[in-house]
Amino acid sequence: MKGSIFLELLEMAEETFGEEVVDRILDTTDLESGGAYTSVGTYSCGELVTLVSAFSDHSGIDGEELQRLFGHWMMTFFTKRYGSFFEGKTSAFDILEAIEDEIHVEVRKLYPDAELPTFATDRFSVKELDMVYTSPRPLAPFCRGLIEACLNLFNQKATIEMSALADAMQSTKFRISLVDQS
Ligand code: HEM
Repeated sequence: MKGSIFLELLEMAEETFGEEVVDRILDTTDLESGGAYTSVGTYSCGELVTLVSAFSDHSGIDGEELQRLFGHWMMTFFTKRYGSFFEGKTSAFDILEAIEDEIHVEVRKLYPDAELPTFATDRFSVKELDMVYTSPRPLAPFCRGLIEACLNLFNQKATIEMSALADAMQSTKFRISLVDQS
């Protein structure tokens, strides 16, 4: 996983828990890399999960909740850093439907070694989108946070139902149903 993702996680943790806490956790957690990340480096996703769990132990905030919050944080980072990927998109569904064949394709060109998930989307009604997330990495709550943040970008409200797919171990289905805001 790209170093920039780790740097953003540490930035979020610094803002939330303070620099001293982050330094202490980096010093006391057993990390393959030693905890020194550069934006261009690549590190194991397991290390990200270890860090999230250390921040969870420190704060008492559930690890899945921290992942979800990190999804929101990363969406802000993506909109600042990769604004062009959002051009011409007028709704959350527009973005979510563009990840697999457009956005992550561009990400792969920039970072050939990126570890990306796959998505299959099905807009089965005007207001409902099914999105199947498949990844060997345990980041479904992070994915949920990114989806929520996409909705926030367009001031859209929705319910998001998450369910494991019985016949596909590494897949999670998100059913996103827009809520009327009249
Ligand atoms: C402009 C928008 C986006 C950019 C630039 C972007 C870029 C990236 C990058 C750089 C990574 C890390 C790859 C690595 O470190 O090896 C990543 C991973 C990921 N992205 Fe995106 N992404 C975008 C939008 C989204 C959206 C909207 C979603 C969710 C619905 C999403 C879902 C994910 C997930 C879940 C991962 C973690 C890897 C995994 O689960 O296997 N991305 N993305």
